[in-house]
Amino acid sequence: MIYQADQTRYSRMDYKRCGRSGIKLPRISLGLWQNFGSVNVFENSRRMVRTAFDHGITHFDLANNYGPEPGSAESCFGQILSKDLRPYRDELIISSKAGYLMWDGPYGEWGSRKNLIASCDQSLKRLGLDYVDIFYHHRPDPDTPLEETMGALDRIVRSGKALYAGISNYPPERARKAFRILRELGTPCLIHQPRYSMLFRDYEKNGLFEVLEEEGVGAIVFSPLAQGMLSGKYLNGIPEDSRASRSDALQKMYLTEEGVAKLRALNGLAVRRGQSLSQMAIAWVLRRPAVTSALIGASSPQQITDICGCLKNPEFSMEELAEIDAVLG
Ligand SMILES: NC(=O)c1ccc[n+]([C@@H]2O[C@H](COP(=O)([O-])OP(=O)(O)OC[C@H]3O[C@@H](n4cnc5c(N)ncnc54)[C@H](OP(=O)(O)O)[C@@H]3O)[C@@H](O)[C@H]2O)c1
Repeated sequence: MIYQADQTRYSRMDYKRCGRSGIKLPRISLGLWQNFGSVNVFENSRRMVRTAFDHGITHFDLANNYGPEPGSAESCFGQILSKDLRPYRDELIISSKAGYLMWDGPYGEWGSRKNLIASCDQSLKRLGLDYVDIFYHHRPDPDTPLEETMGALDRIVRSGKALYAGISNYPPERARKAFRILRELGTPCLIHQPRYSMLFRDYEKNGLFEVLEEEGVGAIVFSPLAQGMLSGKYLNGIPEDSRASRSDALQKMYLTEEGVAKLRALNGLAVRRGQSLSQMAIAWVLRRPAVTSALIGASSPQQITDICGCLKNPEFSMEELAEIDAVLG
């Protein structure tokens, strides 16, 4: 059956301007880091993308290395585009990135012009696209001059292979330098992609959000549920098939006795707000003026529907914010 997007989709989502650019992004965007690889069930991945778009999620975030195997999330999304979303291409913001290890040898990672331009070409082939909307440098490279990396982003935009440039995981001062170089080259940076959630607040403390507001660059924050820790599914143990069931590191970092007690306290507040814990966690990252969009992941269509419900109650009282701070300690 030919897919027809839900006609009500644009009344179901809120959109926010990305920094001082012309682009508005949905408050919730879908990332394809996990659950869209060659090891996953294609029809489930496809249903998630359809569900997201039916809810007005116009932005889909990829990277060269998403899978597993690396590259397969882009191939999967390329198939979904050609089967379902091709007629809607101009309604979509599709992003990709380069910077993490992707192929053997000295050019398969980091921030050289060679790596970024070759990687962008590979991503376009896998996606079956002429251009992506945003192309990011995925992580700062301590050894390559920033001028070279930003020059490569500028070149990718000028050659029509991307419409906008972005950076990810850059600390505030390096981000500020990158923004200056890009501005001087005539390709202002659209967006920064940092990690941010109730359980990871480093960028709140080091002033990144203030830099972004001053510079007029939007923020799309990744892992806003701390990879599902803030979803409520871990309040009474570790369910089978959950991400933590496959990751000792997540269990050790967050699911200690003390960690679960915090999650239970946060869940108590969410219940009083009439929300699921996931909905409250997403509303909480969106409360910051610098944050344009929350970049979620999902393993089922129902999770996406649940998250979108957060838009019904986005406000926090001062007392609620103080209670969250007190719980997190
Ligand atoms: N720039 C970077 O360096 C970088 C790094 C990491 C991620 N990212 C981007 O950020 C995106 C999101 O990252 P993430 O997957 O860590 O995000 P996340 O939203 O923090 O976690 C997603 C996981 O939470 C669980 N979940 C989501 N909604 C749920 C719900 N309503 N109820 C119960 N569980 C729910 C699911 O895990 P289960 O599998 O347990 O169901 C899902 O896979 C990635 O896809 C990628 O695009 C970027």
